[in-house]
Amino acid sequence: MIQIEQVTKRYPAKQREREVIALQEIDLQIEKGDIFGIVGYSGAGKSTLLRLLNGLEKPTSGSIHVNGKKLAVLSDGELRVLRQKIGMIFQHYHLLWSRTVRENVAFPLEIAGKTKREIEQRTEELLRRVGLWERKDAYPSELSGGQKQRVGIARALANDPFLLLCDEATSALDPETTTSILQLIKEINQEMGITVALITHEMSVVDAICNKVAVMETGSIVELGEVKQVFREPQHEVTKRFTEGLGGDHIA
Ligand SMILES: Nc1ncnc2c1ncn2[C@@H]1O[C@H](COP(=O)(O)OP(=O)(O)OP(=O)(O)O)[C@@H](O)[C@H]1O
Ligand SMILES: [Mg+2]
Repeated sequence: MIQIEQVTKRYPAKQREREVIALQEIDLQIEKGDIFGIVGYSGAGKSTLLRLLNGLEKPTSGSIHVNGKKLAVLSDGELRVLRQKIGMIFQHYHLLWSRTVRENVAFPLEIAGKTKREIEQRTEELLRRVGLWERKDAYPSELSGGQKQRVGIARALANDPFLLLCDEATSALDPETTTSILQLIKEINQEMGITVALITHEMSVVDAICNKVAVMETGSIVELGEVKQVFREPQHEVTKRFTEGLGGDHIA
């Protein structure tokens, strides 16, 4: 589904700042049905990688194919259509604070030009799916962190994405809420067949729901493989630090 080949991303030097090499010759494949974990310390290049996947940024060199299409050759219009089929959720939710729960979920459907009736139906279906239909008229400020992320997930699913990108989606949540959100992501993956790429700095998140993992350090992937294998025999120093003291709480 996703092929990343020899991707390098440099941010050019600005007045007082030196050039940053955020990603360096990255090779990565994400297959349909994966819940693919991307782990690394702050500044490793994780968010940059996700932004390249949905075409929000362009690589300096190398190529990215999504569903067999090379991103670099897509027109702006084609890229916009593709991006509607890639959902994204964030650590700080990125909800619209002046809109209700229902209106937040409706937003991407409005942008996609759906009819009022379609929007009403789809919004209800999604809010029921994430367990928030009862709060449809609440504003984000009236919700708990876990509820806000459920709105974020419902919104991300609005246009039937084939891929869900999660950037530290549980980092602001307590452990119990984290488990319930991870459970929801896992269900979405299994029931709707949506492939997931998930950034985290917690190996316990990878342990809970991912089948594959890439460990990043300063712009490079230092370890990559099946989660079970990587956990059993971590090779790289960074991976060893990340996996220390973990004992499988896998969500089936
Ligand atoms: N728009 C930008 N302009 C310049 N440098 C950038 C830009 N975006 C990211 N960087 C730099 O690229 C590197 C990788 O950043 P990135 O945000 O991808 O890291 P990350 O792994 O997501 O970190 P965190 O865990 O803190 O979110 C960092 O050195 C960062 O400062
Ligand atoms: Mg980041």
